[in-house]
Amino acid sequence: MNISIAIMAAGFGTRMKSKTPKVLHKISGFEILYYIIKEAQKVSDDITVILYHEANQIQQKMDEYFTNINYIIQNHDQFPGTGGAIMDVHPKYEKLLVLNGDMPLLEAKDMLLFAQEEAPVIMSSFCAKDASGYGRVIKDNTNLVEKIVEEKDANEQEKKIKDVNAGVYLFDSDFLQTNLPKLTNDNQQNEYYITDLIKIANDQLIPVKAIDVDEETFMGVNSKYHLALAETCMQARIKKRFMEAGVIMRLPETIYIEAEVQISGESVIENGVSLLGHSNIIDSIVKTNSVVEDSTLEDSDIGPMARIRPGSYLFKTHIGNFVEVKKSTLKGVKAGHLSYLGDSSIDEGTNIGCGTITCNYDGKSKFKTIIGKNVFIGSDTQLVAPVTIEDDVMIAAGTTVTKNVKQGSLAINRHPLKIIDNFFYKFFGKK
Ligand code: UD1
Ligand code: MG
Repeated sequence: MNISIAIMAAGFGTRMKSKTPKVLHKISGFEILYYIIKEAQKVSDDITVILYHEANQIQQKMDEYFTNINYIIQNHDQFPGTGGAIMDVHPKYEKLLVLNGDMPLLEAKDMLLFAQEEAPVIMSSFCAKDASGYGRVIKDNTNLVEKIVEEKDANEQEKKIKDVNAGVYLFDSDFLQTNLPKLTNDNQQNEYYITDLIKIANDQLIPVKAIDVDEETFMGVNSKYHLALAETCMQARIKKRFMEAGVIMRLPETIYIEAEVQISGESVIENGVSLLGHSNIIDSIVKTNSVVEDSTLEDSDIGPMARIRPGSYLFKTHIGNFVEVKKSTLKGVKAGHLSYLGDSSIDEGTNIGCGTITCNYDGKSKFKTIIGKNVFIGSDTQLVAPVTIEDDVMIAAGTTVTKNVKQGSLAINRHPLKIIDNFFYKFFGKK
C-alpha cells in the first residue's frame, strides 16, 4: 500500500492528570500507542511517530515492540499543537494518513477506509452522543466541510453541533508542503491546529469530504474516564472474538482478558477471571475468580480462586482453590487446595496435599523443587528447596523435607504424639 502514516503523540496529555504520558497508558495490558502502531504497520511501511513530551520514555517502550518506525521530535516550543506536530514529517509516499495518537480502538480496516479516497484532503467525522472536547465540523449545504472549530474557540451556536472531527485525515503530501506554512496560532490555545488545514483547503476551492466513521472505534482518549470507556470497548471486542471461536464465557462482562492472550479449543472461562500477558488457554476450564498470568494451560482445570503466575505450564492438571503456582511445570498433577508451588517441576500421577509449600526462597536466592511421578505428598508439607523427590514416594502429612528423597521411600519427621489423660481438667479445673 503506497501510503505514509504519521501518528501524533507529542502532546502533554494534561487532561489525563498523570505523570505517565497519555499514549503510554494501558488498555487491556498494552499501551495506547502500541495498538495504533501495530495496526498502522498492517497498512504502511512508512510510519512516523511524532514525539516531544517524554519522548525518550515513549520511544524506548515502543522499541521493545517495533522496529522500522521513524521517530521525530516536534518543534514544540515554536510550533505547538497538532498542526505543528506534522510540520517536520517527510512522507515517502504521495499520500499521508495522519492519526491522533490517542485512538486505541482504531484498526487497519478503519485506516484503509481513507486509502480508497482520491481527493487531496479527506477528514473523518461522526455524530457524537456527547460532543464535548471534540472539534465541531461546520458543513455547507452540500455536506462538504467548510471548517473545524475547536471547542475552546467555538461560540454557543457552534458548540451545539453534534458533528465532530474524529481526528484522522488523509492529505496529499504536496498539499501539506504548500499549506502547512500558512497555519497560524491565532486561537484560544495559541496552537497550530491541523484542523485549520480544512479551512485553508476551502479557501483554495478544494472540496473537503468527511468520511462518516464509528464513534466508538474513533474515540480519542483524553481523560482517565475515556481510558475506562476505551477499555470497556476493547474488552468487549476481545471476548466476542473468543466466544465466536467457541470459548464459553457465561458472564463475559465480569471477565478481563488482555490483548495478547490466546484461548482455543473447548475452553470455559468462568466469571471474575483475569487472563493476563501472553497466557495461552487450550481446552481448559478456568473457574471463578482465578488469575492466569503469562502461563499456558492445556487440558487442565483451575480454581475457583487459583493464581497461576508467570512462566507456568500446566498439562492435564487439576488445580483447586487457593493454590498459587509460579514458574512451574505440572504434568498430570492434582493440587486441590491451599498450596504454593513455585520454581518447581512436578510429574504425572502426583498428588499434592492441602497446605503444601515449596520453600523456594532463602532470602537471597530462589531454588528448585523437583517432584517425580506418582508421588503422594501429605497435607501441610514443606519442601525446602533445592530438593528432589523421586518417583513413587510418600511424604507423611506435616513433614518438613530438607533432603532429597529416593524412589519408593516414605519421608516422615514427626515427633511421637503424646496424649496426657485428664490434662484439661487439671489445668482448668472441673466445672
Ligand atoms: C483533536 C482535534 C479535534 C478532534 C479530536 C478527536 C486538534 C486541534 N483538535 O483534539 O478537532 O475532535 O482530536 O479526538 O487537532 N499532539 C501532538 N502535538 C501537540 C499536541 C497534540 O503531537 O502539540 C498529539 C497528542 O499527543 C494526541 C493528538 O495529537 O495524540 C491529539 O491531541 P489532543 O490534545 O488529544 O487533541 P484533542 O483535544 O483531542
Ligand atoms: Mg484527543
